[in-house]
Amino acid sequence: MASKQQTESLMAQCKLFGKKDLPIKYTSLFINNEFVPSIEGNKFPTFCPATGEKICDVEEGRKADVQKAVLAAKQAFEFNSVWRRTDASQRGRLIQKLARLVERDSEYLSQLETLDNGKPLAESLNDISDTIKCFEYYAGWSDKIEGKTIPVDGDYFAYTHYEPIGIVGQIIPWNFPLLMAAWKLAPALTTGNVVILKLAEQTPLTGLYLASLIKEAGFPPGVVNVIPGYGPTAGAAISEHMEIDKVAFTGSTEVGHLIMQAAGRTNLKNVTLEMGGKSPNIILKDADIDSAVETSQATVFYNQGEICSSGSRTYVQEEIYEEFVRKSVELAMKVKTGDPFHPDTTMGAQVSEEQLMKILEHIESGKKEGAKLECGGSRHGDKGYFLQPTIFSNVQDDMKIAREEIFGPVQSIFKFKTMDEAIERANDTKYGLGGGVFTRDIENAMYVSSRLKTGTVWINCFDVTLANTPFGGYKMSGTGREMGEEGLRQYSEVKTTIMKIAKKIS
Ligand code: NAI
Ligand code: MG
Repeated sequence: MASKQQTESLMAQCKLFGKKDLPIKYTSLFINNEFVPSIEGNKFPTFCPATGEKICDVEEGRKADVQKAVLAAKQAFEFNSVWRRTDASQRGRLIQKLARLVERDSEYLSQLETLDNGKPLAESLNDISDTIKCFEYYAGWSDKIEGKTIPVDGDYFAYTHYEPIGIVGQIIPWNFPLLMAAWKLAPALTTGNVVILKLAEQTPLTGLYLASLIKEAGFPPGVVNVIPGYGPTAGAAISEHMEIDKVAFTGSTEVGHLIMQAAGRTNLKNVTLEMGGKSPNIILKDADIDSAVETSQATVFYNQGEICSSGSRTYVQEEIYEEFVRKSVELAMKVKTGDPFHPDTTMGAQVSEEQLMKILEHIESGKKEGAKLECGGSRHGDKGYFLQPTIFSNVQDDMKIAREEIFGPVQSIFKFKTMDEAIERANDTKYGLGGGVFTRDIENAMYVSSRLKTGTVWINCFDVTLANTPFGGYKMSGTGREMGEEGLRQYSEVKTTIMKIAKKIS
């Protein structure tokens, strides 16, 4: 999450609440630094989740468009191309410039995000802050990616250095459209790769606007190509392409399987996956209860619960269970669901009718399987895709709502007796993205942290994701890491050079 200071400063610059009639400037594919129509002439609609109304049609990229983008990217990556001859420090400057352009247009971008995705405007602004941070962080890395000299046996001098992988396909989801584009683009560009970015079909608008800023920043043609389109067509064309050297994906575990299979069937491209989760959040009896209640709820309700690392399994120790549930319900009553452009709104609309229906099905199954519905559980209003903030107590580990990712504002509260029991139950899942513990006891915090099988553990906080700390999953939550120095490694090949040293010069 962005620093409060940074988001507030962006807020101060923008007088944007209540604005909805936005001009939509870019609706085409972006290939070779030009906005172009799709080859087959197809278009698809994107909707405003808060009203259910169509915003506009967008050009739909398919296999032939991906091929065109690959040719553009290939040219940009050729050995003597402008991009390959661009100094590392200049790559950093271009990414910095992009950060400044996002900042300049943050008012427009945040409104566009809210329009297309349905999240509250303040949360869109928060995403923009994080987007800027991500570009700034990776811009600084461009000329600091150093290899090693290795003291090998014999008369040899050995060193390593990092090279870009080549043509990188990136497939992003709809929950943080602009931020996920930044998470993918920034490390790929700072390391010198060329990119084909596929936007999610539900939320293509901010990614296309970003493409215009990439051109304005001065990136050479073909370095970044942006394709709006569907998964089974454009997405699959990327993951199956023989000349795409790597694919990075964020989305469902189901599609993660397909992408890895496609890579396996074709050119064994490098794959990084960031997928779903069912992250456990363990509240010990000595925790600061009000803070634990607030944060545990924020991780499930923020972004309408559409967060991969959402702490959607709240485990609470039995001594404080009743109080925790009561306080959670009281807090949920204060959530203001509705018009995401209104300054008082704290929960916006789910991204699509399909996602809303999927969440409602989960809620029905929770009720049927015997969990106690404490509040919410139904659609909110009769327009758009809003859901009431929902809390279940007395949730059992074998229920569907305890095992499957819901991806909506549904908190499941479980009861446990001992810390070891909570850890065992927390780890009993196919996922391993995030986990958390709330306690005032440092030894207990470290004990739980060391035993959770998750890529990140948060202590007395949750869902804090930063540009400089690696993020990713154990088990079926993913492979590889994004952000931080580890994020760079996913976009680099290490090259070893070994040189024979002459014994004596005659
Ligand atoms: P999805 O995994 O289908 O979509 C994510 C991206 O993958 C989109 O750009 C989509 O077009 C693309 N895609 C879909 N099929 C593809 C294929 N065969 N080959 C290549 N790319 C493909 O996710 P969806 O259907 O939008 O949401 C379903 C569930 O996935 C959600 O309810 C949630 O549980 C999970 N999800 C997790 C996310 C995360 O941040 N880890 C983000 C979005 C969804
Ligand atoms: Mg939309």
